[in-house]
Amino acid sequence: SNPSLLILAGDGIGPEVMNEVKRIITWYGDKRDMPFDVTEDLVGGCAYDKHGTPLHDDTMAKAQEVDAVLLGAVGGPKYDDLDFSVKPERGLLRLRKEMDLFSNLRPAQCFDALADFSSLKRDIVAGLDIMIVRELTSGVYFGEPRGIHVEGNERVGVNTQRYTESEIARVARSAFELARRRNNKVCSMEKANVMESGVLWRQVVTEIHEKEYSDVQLSHMYADNGAMQLVRNPKQFDVIVTDNLFGDLLSDAAAMLTGSLGMLPSASLGLPMANGRPKALYEPVHGSAPDITGQGKANPIACILSFAMALRYSFDAGAEADRLEAAVEKVLADGARTADLLGPEGGSPISTTEMGDAILAALDAS
Ligand code: NAI
Ligand code: MG
Repeated sequence: SNPSLLILAGDGIGPEVMNEVKRIITWYGDKRDMPFDVTEDLVGGCAYDKHGTPLHDDTMAKAQEVDAVLLGAVGGPKYDDLDFSVKPERGLLRLRKEMDLFSNLRPAQCFDALADFSSLKRDIVAGLDIMIVRELTSGVYFGEPRGIHVEGNERVGVNTQRYTESEIARVARSAFELARRRNNKVCSMEKANVMESGVLWRQVVTEIHEKEYSDVQLSHMYADNGAMQLVRNPKQFDVIVTDNLFGDLLSDAAAMLTGSLGMLPSASLGLPMANGRPKALYEPVHGSAPDITGQGKANPIACILSFAMALRYSFDAGAEADRLEAAVEKVLADGARTADLLGPEGGSPISTTEMGDAILAALDAS
């Protein structure tokens, strides 16, 4: 049977950028003989409007069954005052949690045509292609005890950084596997100098490396130095693996090396399913962009590159992912720009659909 996809376009520009992805999925079926079984459903505010919950149980069940989930974005001002338990982002958090998506892949890739967009000098970022692997389901955002309590005559806020050996081991394996498909190089970042969880992190990563991945080149770096090195000389890295908190900060910083939010894809992977494919959710890094919703201004590339990651990591179609990424690179080199990709000197932007048209034309020519 065909590989299956669940599309959850969500709110705001989510459906706008996902429309362009749907056309590309159709193209792969028609032109590359790669048909997908696509199901669509609701997540976020639109799901709340219909069902009173940002993720219906039926949708959750579908997400567990398909080969991959593609998500647009959730949220918007209409939902800002909702109770925390039904906020749109709770739909996304539930997906991550119940699918146990512990490995978050955030590429920072700099397309040559956009190198002048970076906050850094062109020669530091041109050709940059690194991958940050962030542990997504544990660490200080989840550790117990947590809360705000009173001690003596003042309030105290508490969070706990806690990592088990198995939590570290599985994300380390995910990074090493990834490195074998790329340039065989992993840098693990923690703060073993001041944190017990960092000491354990370094021990476990080292053990997994020695036992299972000694062919991969492994280095360790304190995460604060890592932040500095990322902006000083990012091209020294290939795969970076780090915990939830450091990964949150480092991946956001790395993102800005490459320019616009409208360009950044991500993947969140879990354990292999019965068919050998990992549980997987692919989504752009950006949100629902209420300020440009409904105006045809959204850049669909982040969502399109997220589908390219699905081709690569869920469907073993690395060559087809390369084809799609090359099509994006080609249209950028030819000067196609949505509004977010225009520099201060301006120029005339194309619409979301026109960007989709250009990428489809480049695919046809590939
Ligand atoms: P945002 O990412 O939606 O927008 C930030 C800025 O970047 C805006 O000026 C927006 O117009 C621009 N932008 C974002 N994506 C773009 C694209 N594809 N093309 C062109 N311009 C783009 O973040 P913001 O404004 O903080 O949040 C808006 C809503 O999205 C909130 O409700 C927030 O909770 C939600 N959100 C959802 C996320 C998700 O679904 N994963 C992630 C981040 C925010
Ligand atoms: Mg963040």
